[in-house]
Amino acid sequence: MAQREKKVILQMKNIVKYYDTLAANDNINLTLHQGEILAVIGENGAGKTTLMKILYGLEHPTSGEILLNGQPVHLKNAAQAISCGIGMVQQHFMLFDPFTVAENVVYGREPKKGLFFDVKAANDRIAELSRQYELPLNPTDKIQGMPVGLRQRVEILKVLYQNADIIIFDEPTAVLTPQEVHELLKTMKQLSVAGKSIIIITHKLNEVMEVADRAMVMRMGKHIADVNIEDTSVEELSFMMVGRQLIDKNIESLAAGEDVLRVENLTLAGNGLLPVIDHLSLHVAKGEIVGIAGVSGNGQSELVRCLFGLQKADSGTITVCGKNIFNRSVRNVRDAGVAMIPEDRYIWGSAREATIAETAVMGHYRSPQLSRNGVLYTKKIRGFAQELVDEFGVKTDNIQYKTGSLSGGNAQKLIAAREIRQNTPLLIACEPTRGVDIGAMEFIHDRIVEKRSAGDAVLLISSELTEIMKLSDRIYVMYDGRINGEFTRETVTEEQLGFLMMGGKKQ
Ligand SMILES: Nc1ncnc2c1ncn2[C@@H]1O[C@H](COP(=O)(O)OP(=O)(O)OP(=O)(O)O)[C@@H](O)[C@H]1O
Ligand SMILES: [Mg+2]
Repeated sequence: MAQREKKVILQMKNIVKYYDTLAANDNINLTLHQGEILAVIGENGAGKTTLMKILYGLEHPTSGEILLNGQPVHLKNAAQAISCGIGMVQQHFMLFDPFTVAENVVYGREPKKGLFFDVKAANDRIAELSRQYELPLNPTDKIQGMPVGLRQRVEILKVLYQNADIIIFDEPTAVLTPQEVHELLKTMKQLSVAGKSIIIITHKLNEVMEVADRAMVMRMGKHIADVNIEDTSVEELSFMMVGRQLIDKNIESLAAGEDVLRVENLTLAGNGLLPVIDHLSLHVAKGEIVGIAGVSGNGQSELVRCLFGLQKADSGTITVCGKNIFNRSVRNVRDAGVAMIPEDRYIWGSAREATIAETAVMGHYRSPQLSRNGVLYTKKIRGFAQELVDEFGVKTDNIQYKTGSLSGGNAQKLIAAREIRQNTPLLIACEPTRGVDIGAMEFIHDRIVEKRSAGDAVLLISSELTEIMKLSDRIYVMYDGRINGEFTRETVTEEQLGFLMMGGKKQ
């Protein structure tokens, strides 16, 4: 394309970043043109987020140089990056729920009338930006209760309000529904047409192919390649990222055994007019992976919370291996033989301040192998943590480091490893591969299949239809707090599944 003639807006030259002895960025060069969408891709721990933190002033490079429009800049903090026209759409949204859209967008940079916050000017400006960039939002709506896709839109408006020319997105689609992803990619294209330059980090190569002009591939802190999207393919990109060919395996159903999990007539009233979970019944047998497909917000999260003892339901029955676990504590549920990979690893899967070794046993340290009468066997705990890290390829130099020092995907791998390795009769896996690279995804999928082939039961909740369809022996579709249909591995089609997810009825 005409890419080469476009103006170079940003250059990052020979960027090196060390954490102790680890080179998170090892001599990286990045060029960005005006109006371009550049995808930065690579395995978990490759150094993508580190590079973007340097560009946004959140981390300082050990050495190297940043040029904006040919001029060297020293970005000491995010405020300085913003004043240089660099914006970042935060992944963990930092919005104030009780405030309106406009109040959030202008926060810290409020238009003033005399000494006072000029609400009307703020509302007008946000309405204008939202029209200009086709980001439908009502400036006076409250954030409270907004779906993730809209919250992200508010974050984008914030960056536009700050007049950013360069916009960084670090895994923006990981938390979105397919429809929201579609809209976000459209927005990115509109922004690029309007002259904004965009950097997007994602593990989803189909998104790269759809939206990006160019891709930069990183591996283990190093710059591997720059490619034009026109000249490449998903296969080539994935090969460059992981350095090997990934094979699509066929998974065959086993003869399912007796039920491990039985849920009958589960009901959770919630605060609204309609129940959040409405007389829901399901079962998962030994040797079965059962997927729950559904547009997020149809009661899946609440279902998991009720199953795992994190929320009290109103009525119904839940049994695991014949034991009643209805409205029992998390500890009782775990003792009955349930492990769970949580949907948000930072809210209840780990603590950033805890060490990796501590995270590796969180929720399980009472087991007789790891402690007795409240006394922890430190050596055994470290041994177990090291085993998990080695087996699942969690990239870290030392398990005594804080969990927060792991890259996003590596934190996810650690938590998935911990829960799979409990060898419980039932594993509840919520978004088990969120944020992990394609190689690690294959690995985690293999472990889950292995678990069910060993005779355990797996309940899989995922917003990735490809993941549900690949792994599940049976699939329930959840809609409006109810089961709206059921498929087997043999009978499922993507069209039918999508139709039921939107509330359609099975023929
Ligand atoms: N604050 C820190 N202290 C020590 N090591 C760190 C710190 N931040 C990042 N690292 C290490 O730097 C490497 C690169 O991490 P980074 O977060 O940039 O990876 P990433 O490419 O974004 O991975 P992911 O796809 O998993 O998000 C990792 O090995 C990580 O453990
Ligand atoms: Mg990252």
